[in-house]
Amino acid sequence: EILNIFVMLKCEIVMKRKIVILSGAGISAESGIKTFRDSNGLWEEYRVEDVASIDGWYRNPEIVQEFYNQRRVQLSTVEPNRAHKLIAQLERENDVVVITQNVDNLHERAGSSRIIHLHGELTKITPEDKNGDVYDIGYQQIKMGDCDSRGVQLRPYIVWFGEDVPEINRAAEEVATADILLIIGTSLNVYPAAGLIYYAKKDAQIYLIDPNDVNVRLANVVHIKENATSGMEKFIEQVSA
Ligand code: APR
Repeated sequence: EILNIFVMLKCEIVMKRKIVILSGAGISAESGIKTFRDSNGLWEEYRVEDVASIDGWYRNPEIVQEFYNQRRVQLSTVEPNRAHKLIAQLERENDVVVITQNVDNLHERAGSSRIIHLHGELTKITPEDKNGDVYDIGYQQIKMGDCDSRGVQLRPYIVWFGEDVPEINRAAEEVATADILLIIGTSLNVYPAAGLIYYAKKDAQIYLIDPNDVNVRLANVVHIKENATSGMEKFIEQVSA
């Protein structure tokens, strides 16, 4: 009798479908945050090598601090958009992991609970000797001379060009076990993040939400050629069908 109950219960624990999202700057565009490579994007205003590389930090740290201070202030003035919220709502019926290249906190503020930040987080800082400590300063500014208790200079908790991407292996493991991979708002220009899509299972369904063409060198990708907010509505219709 007990065995029958156990078997019935076990059958009830149906494995949830696993959806992995790989997001980029495009998902935050409709919240008012500039992307990097669109026309009048961030990389048209600044040189990547000056503000988003470890060499730029060693060459002129004040410029780097100011670049991230400005983006931290801007982040305090914007809100998650419907695309962030629809992704958070997917967690009701699915096992969802968000892998984002974005350093903003909009996925968190929309309610997503499992997020891997490949390129760091704008609201956090760390000592420049990267001893492992990380502090959340929200939208405050930091400047040269702001140090930790050991007297080590504090810097943005961002993965710069020329630095390792500590979360890449964990992210690859998540993609490799996804039933559905959704690529949203990324030009797939930057590695190793862009290489994650090649870890998808042969039988995984792959969707791309982007108003422009993206060079996804994979077969059988369903391209929803729309902005993130309307594209997410269509995506949910298609995967709920
Ligand atoms: N909705 C969806 N996608 C959009 C929207 C929108 N409203 N607007 C633009 N896009 C798309 C663009 O077509 C482009 O494919 O978002 C993508 C933005 O690409 P990038 O600007 O290259 O941003 P991203 O791919 O996130 O850059 C990756 O590069 O500079 C580094 O560290 C930085 O994490 C960043 C990485």
